Amino acid sequence: MNIKNICCIGAGYVGGPTMAVIAQKCPEINVTVVDINEKRIAAWNDENVENIPIYEPGLSDIVKEARGRNLFFSTDIDAAIDRAEMIFISVNTPTKTYGIGKGMAADLKYIELCARQIARVSTTDKIVVEKSTLPVRTAETLKNILTNTGNGVNYQILSNPEFLAEGTAVEDLLDPDRVLIGGDIDTEAGKDAVQSLVDVYAHWVEKDHILTTNVWSSELSKLTANAFLAQRVSSINAMSELCEKTGADVNEVAKAVGMDSRIGSKFLKASVGFGGSCFQKDILNLVYIAKSFGLNEVANYWEQVILMNDHQKRRFAANMVRTLFNTVSGKKIGFLGWAFKKDTNDTRESAAIYVADYLLNEQAEIVVYDPKVKEEQVYADLDYLNTRSEEENRKRVKVVKDPYEVTKEAHAVAVLTEWDEFKDYDWQKIYDEMLKPAFLFDGRRMLERKSKEKIGFEFYAIGS
Ligand code: UDX
Ligand code: ADP
Repeated sequence: MNIKNICCIGAGYVGGPTMAVIAQKCPEINVTVVDINEKRIAAWNDENVENIPIYEPGLSDIVKEARGRNLFFSTDIDAAIDRAEMIFISVNTPTKTYGIGKGMAADLKYIELCARQIARVSTTDKIVVEKSTLPVRTAETLKNILTNTGNGVNYQILSNPEFLAEGTAVEDLLDPDRVLIGGDIDTEAGKDAVQSLVDVYAHWVEKDHILTTNVWSSELSKLTANAFLAQRVSSINAMSELCEKTGADVNEVAKAVGMDSRIGSKFLKASVGFGGSCFQKDILNLVYIAKSFGLNEVANYWEQVILMNDHQKRRFAANMVRTLFNTVSGKKIGFLGWAFKKDTNDTRESAAIYVADYLLNEQAEIVVYDPKVKEEQVYADLDYLNTRSEEENRKRVKVVKDPYEVTKEAHAVAVLTEWDEFKDYDWQKIYDEMLKPAFLFDGRRMLERKSKEKIGFEFYAIGS
């Protein structure tokens, strides 16, 4: 099928950047990104491209180039579906918070709504592409809904998992390690559909970087990749605790281990714990699938990656309390960083949220600075946990726009996100303005110890 119109349902962290790059690289294809969230679409259409709802280095420039030419953002979902030959589904698939599979299985309600909408609206044949990370065999569910409720329209379902990491989304999209496309490769129609999507990516990705598989391999590969990456972080974080007890330094260990070409150096950076919308969700999903097939050893093996991550966040917070003479009650604790990693304004599952929650339970007063996260997001993240009332979160947590307000008269300062700018702060001024002893906790191993100790800080860093 020759693709002239693409529709993408979901204008989030995956749909937005991915479609912007497809539009930039395929000027002859019209790409329309639709969302039910009117505010989000309005922000994507904001005249000033610096105001688009997602912060990603390089993204605003691409939007500027393609928007209005062949990239459109709209809330008219029906029209975009009807016009498109190819529809990407990039809606959110959070972990279920209710019923069977609560806390583990992916909530497919948004996916199902999309499928029903596509079935209701479509009058011509469609290729439907799963872009969101989904449990294995979701394609089957999609197909079922589409073919049983549609009006004689033919559907091909493809799985095309996104491997971009936030903060480097544009780079990852422009130069992907691989593009994975799963389809019904045993049938001619399936092969054709796969080829249509291969042709889209072939505008800028070398052919031998585009892998085609059956649908289930594609779906499971995405979960596996994220599980492996998260497992590396939990593995090095487990070592960080041992390093702290033995006098080894986790950065030195990571370097020595990572230079083994069989192991490799990436994803061995000890931290206060991994966050983000994918790692935890995807592993929980994997655990749920394994359990549902009665594979308890497989499920327990992967679950341990999450348990280790929870332990790391708790351990960091507990260590702060212990170091501050066993109480943080009424003490001002400064947070540098709230996003789950640098160069993104995304805070989903960020370690900072859980560290803050722990310290708030210990009655701390928290002041937060993050270069890209807005005040209302910090409160929304804490409110979502439901640990205390919304009023109390607003009373006990302040979000400021000047980092030196975070550190002024603080009992302790903690680095929760590895934003580059933190390195260049005037640490002497920070020390001078803090209460003494001035405790500094580096949850990202990004600050240089010697110079901080020379200034006079009581310095604690993960894994040393
Ligand atoms: C991840 C996958 O990398 C990506 O391929 C997939 O498409 C989506 O999930 P993302 O969550 O955006 O991407 O970020 P990633 O760079 O993987 O980081 C995840 C978390 O792990 C962050 O909180 C990060 O700070 C942490 N991390 C990462 C570490 O603590 N140490 C490391 O060495 C690497
Ligand atoms: P991701 O990181 O997977 O991109 P986001 O939460 O950033 O997740 O984005 C998902 C987007 O999908 C949100 O903007 C949400 O409003 C949108 N969405 C969810 N369900 C639907 C739907 N049925 N129709 C259109 N948009 C939807």
